[in-house]
Amino acid sequence: MKKIAIKGTGSFSPERVVPNSYFEKIIDTSDEWITTRTGIKERRMIEKGQAMSDLATLASASALQMAGISADELDLIIIGTSTADMLSPSAACMVQYRLGAKKAVAFDVNAACPGFIYGLAVAQKFMQDGSYSKALVVGGEIVSNRLDYKDRSTCVLFGDGAGAVVLEHSNGKDNGEILAMDIESDGDLWHLIHVPGGGSRIPPSHEMLNEGLQYLKMNGNEVFKHAVRTLVDSARKIMAQQGITSEEIDWFIPHQANIRIMDVVAEKLGIPTEKVIVTVHKYGNTSAATIPVAFDEAVRSGQIRKGDLVLVSSFGAGLTWGAALFRY
Ligand code: ACO
Repeated sequence: MKKIAIKGTGSFSPERVVPNSYFEKIIDTSDEWITTRTGIKERRMIEKGQAMSDLATLASASALQMAGISADELDLIIIGTSTADMLSPSAACMVQYRLGAKKAVAFDVNAACPGFIYGLAVAQKFMQDGSYSKALVVGGEIVSNRLDYKDRSTCVLFGDGAGAVVLEHSNGKDNGEILAMDIESDGDLWHLIHVPGGGSRIPPSHEMLNEGLQYLKMNGNEVFKHAVRTLVDSARKIMAQQGITSEEIDWFIPHQANIRIMDVVAEKLGIPTEKVIVTVHKYGNTSAATIPVAFDEAVRSGQIRKGDLVLVSSFGAGLTWGAALFRY
């Protein structure tokens, strides 16, 4: 089985900054409530007319540049997203077209927030036997136009963004290596986070729009409980598989949904806060983009260095969850 490593990272967050004070003007909320309950101070949102592949293409170009490979060398493009530009075709095909990655096979993975981790797991399987050798994996999302700006329990939580990595075969050790992956799902809990309208069960209609079924619905308290359990279990599982203890982890990047969830999970795993990468205060929850964006920023700022042992874990609608352990 061939080893696989991350050779380049990139990210793009829209320029438009939306601070908590914006929501104080449109709903009954406060900067103090949002900050203490979630850790979010501001988020980035697209301008009208921008779409997911605009963000994903810029993030991908930046990851390709760091990896030192051109788009036409890619043989695989996987995008973790549940907010592609259109219902069809996939966002991955749009990014393939815009990068000029002519020979890549391109498809999306719809697994909500862990979409990037699911994408990594799929790419790893495709590459392990040597049939694919240069892959682009993206986590990208435009959540801002799925939000009901009258529902204070959801609209303050999310933002838009995209992050990407380029994967290549590796000799392991100093060249980096994905050591372990875990992806899991529990469809029994589909109703905890969902967007009911616009799909095949409730197709687009005036009635659907009038009832607000195009917007994200979430049972925040229930999600909170499952989030802590799944993030901890998944991370523990892959560390145990590799015989690695939490003391050996250099950096932990949990899904950036809520600072309270991140703090509890890090504490349960025995990972000190100074090893936890945090971006939730400036971007909010960007769903599948949180981990690759945080990872790229930590690499580019010099926090995460070559050879560091990195643990990432995420959970989201489905429910879906997963974790990855890799040496950068
Ligand atoms: N401003 C002010 N008050 C609010 C707001 C707001 N924005 N939102 C809710 N409240 C109120 C509620 O109405 C409630 O009032 P009440 O007591 O009078 O009924 C009170 O605050 C407490 O509400 P809770 O829901 O109990 O607040 P909680 O502390 O649980 O925080 C939150 C809510 C932030 C949503 C939390 O439950 C959470 O983070 N859950 C996890 C959500 C998550 O991570 N989702 C991402 C999933 S990823 C994906 O796939 C999309």
